[in-house]
Amino acid sequence: MNHPESAGAGSAQRRRILIGVAGGIAAYKACHLIRDFTEHGDDVRVIPTEAALNFVGAATFEALSGHPVSTTVFDAVDEVQHVSLGQQADAIVIAPATADLIARLAGGRADDLLSASALVATCPVIIAPAMHTEMWLNPATQDNVATLRRRGVTVMEPAHGRLTGTDTGAGRLPDPEQIAEFARTIIAGHRVGHDWQGRKVVISAGGTQENLDPVRYFGNRSSGRQGFALAEIAAQRGADVTIVAGNTEALPVPSGAAVVRVTSTRDMQEAMNAESADADIVIMAAAVADYRPASVADSKMKKGTADADLAHLELVENPDILKGLVERRDSGSLNPDAIIVGFAAETGDETTTVLEYAQRKFAKKGCDVLMANEVGEGKVFGQPTSAGWILRRDAEPVVVEPGSKQVVAAQILEAVNEILKK
Ligand code: CTP
Repeated sequence: MNHPESAGAGSAQRRRILIGVAGGIAAYKACHLIRDFTEHGDDVRVIPTEAALNFVGAATFEALSGHPVSTTVFDAVDEVQHVSLGQQADAIVIAPATADLIARLAGGRADDLLSASALVATCPVIIAPAMHTEMWLNPATQDNVATLRRRGVTVMEPAHGRLTGTDTGAGRLPDPEQIAEFARTIIAGHRVGHDWQGRKVVISAGGTQENLDPVRYFGNRSSGRQGFALAEIAAQRGADVTIVAGNTEALPVPSGAAVVRVTSTRDMQEAMNAESADADIVIMAAAVADYRPASVADSKMKKGTADADLAHLELVENPDILKGLVERRDSGSLNPDAIIVGFAAETGDETTTVLEYAQRKFAKKGCDVLMANEVGEGKVFGQPTSAGWILRRDAEPVVVEPGSKQVVAAQILEAVNEILKK
């Protein structure tokens, strides 16, 4: 797999990624994480803790990374490994991080190779915690996490779900792909602060579908990935996130986000209006069906019958949800300070560029931020990557270089954050 921001196998700029693994049951998921980074062309070194080797053997980590593995500062002493690994790393990703390891890192300890490497490092450090809910919520752990965040370490929010035994709650390790994609966003230099606690974010995602009869519908190619990536980054910023999802692929729901499922444009409008009432940030990332059939048949429409002329369907226009949300905000039905974000899916033509069309749409919709995407020819819809421009009322358009939808989401939300701070 070739990703725009990855260095690529064999490249002179192969990134050096240190993957730290602490001693928790989720240690086996680190194997998928190692794979993910090596498949992106990164040079991966694994540093487990002694306890991690109770769960996964050193041989597995060595085979997956192609490098020897050690846990102690007393191996490869001639190479001063306890200093060199951390110094040379482009990023350290620790997954899973147990409560004990987080405490040692917060305490500035250097009592094994992993903690020593983290203490030496000046590169981005991303930590994905995994532990029982009680341990995660314990003030000792929360203080340690706050200490690390204050020092610039990125500590991910753990997922909610099944833990080691039969219990469920917050403390699960996020999916390895989610950790890897999030880490790449940070490594690419995009800021994802943990500064939206207490803020409510509502995001529409995916495509709406308009029924024609019990078996047919009008739809579009939207996968929902951009909306879900926005939800993921907003949740990692500490926000309370609700996704109003039309038709989406079987995408994993970002940890901490609630999902309201809808089908038609009018369903989506009703849910967006209700969920946005007290929101601080409202984002219309959904690909909304602009028209719907004038009537929906109760039974399957049959070819060639007089009452079901499939060749000449009558359509009626759907409401514009985004425009309606801006009007509701401006008339006081929503939080008057809410920041509203829209998208523009444009192809451009001989006379008008994608950016020009997007600027016209921005003026028409009245939202505060608009992400302009060039679509068509396999671009954006259903793809893992995106690109375009971020338009704002208070700043010039900013080019968004091709990147993963998480990377694009981080840039959109940082633009929103700058407006929030004003
Ligand atoms: N949108 C909406 N309600 C609609 C259509 C679109 O809220 N009925 C929102 C989309 O979620 C997006 C923005 O408006 O945030 C622009 O959507 P887009 O499909 O690019 O444009 P349209 O408004 O449909 O205009 P056109 O099809 O003419 O380009």
